[in-house]
Amino acid sequence: MQTLYDRPDLYDVIAPHDPTLEAFYLSRARERGGRVLDLACGSGRLSIPLARAGFKVTAADLSGAMLQRARQAAAGVEVEFAELDMRDFDLPGRTFETIIVAMNSILHVQSLEDFRGFFQSVARHLAPCGRLAFDAFVPSVALLGSSPEQRHPVGDGVHEALGRVSVDETIRYDPLTQINHVDWYWSTAAEKDFWRTPMQMRQIFPQEMPLLIASGGMRLVERLGTSTSARSRRGVTGRFASARRHSSGRPRSAPRLLARSDQLRRGGQSEACPPSSARLGTALCAFAYPTIRTVS
Ligand SMILES: C[S@@+](CC[C@H](N)C(=O)[O-])C[C@H]1O[C@@H](n2cnc3c(N)ncnc32)[C@H](O)[C@@H]1O
Repeated sequence: MQTLYDRPDLYDVIAPHDPTLEAFYLSRARERGGRVLDLACGSGRLSIPLARAGFKVTAADLSGAMLQRARQAAAGVEVEFAELDMRDFDLPGRTFETIIVAMNSILHVQSLEDFRGFFQSVARHLAPCGRLAFDAFVPSVALLGSSPEQRHPVGDGVHEALGRVSVDETIRYDPLTQINHVDWYWSTAAEKDFWRTPMQMRQIFPQEMPLLIASGGMRLVERLGTSTSARSRRGVTGRFASARRHSSGRPRSAPRLLARSDQLRRGGQSEACPPSSARLGTALCAFAYPTIRTVS
């Protein structure tokens, strides 16, 4: 059976240009400057704006079809592409000031072994003082507990040939593996459910994230609560909050509410790099808080 990533043209309908997501990762890259590795880059939605902003970008993905789409979209922009599995990869001799894994793509990493392999691979490719930044939504226990027959709306958009396309999903959650077995149903006005795509998404609860990160020898240094997109597939709306942690693990200050993503640090200045960060790869994670909608 085909997966979502075999049809990048349809992926792009449901995951269009997202200025908030773009601003978030641009500001993260500006903190360190230099080279960026965009893991699970998809069709290049972030790699291309990062390259246009002057970063030296390597865009990597497991899917040849997504990479092909990204290559076409990047015409005239300097981006290096690599086909790899982020759970265990080696780009010999290469390091990056920033490595990003955007739009919940880390949920494609599922077993503990795979998380270890992923974070170890990332750590090997971080320059001294380099930073991993990624986002993941906070699992909704209400959603995970809903009936497998219940349909939930994911989103819609306009496809160049098919016109308006909408997507619903059903979910079946396995609480032991914490893997959510999702099916997406694609419809147009002319044809309901013309395509079904299965997907497995590991649900990562906030308190386990530092442990998963540590399993690969890295350290969580900053955690943000954020809405990556008002149009996100979980129907997220919200504000930005940031709680920075010292190596002691204690918050320096209470979480701050920031009204807009562009209030996050931006503008080319590198953050001071504490000696502990230079030795140990560090990670930053943005969590999005979901709301649930159902299809009647
Ligand atoms: C939700 S998409 C995100 C794409 C892109 N970051 C964006 O913001 O649009 C997830 C991507 O992860 C890729 N992917 C899934 N498993 C992967 C793996 N093990 N290694 C590398 N990429 C993977 C898929 O091919 C897909 O392009």
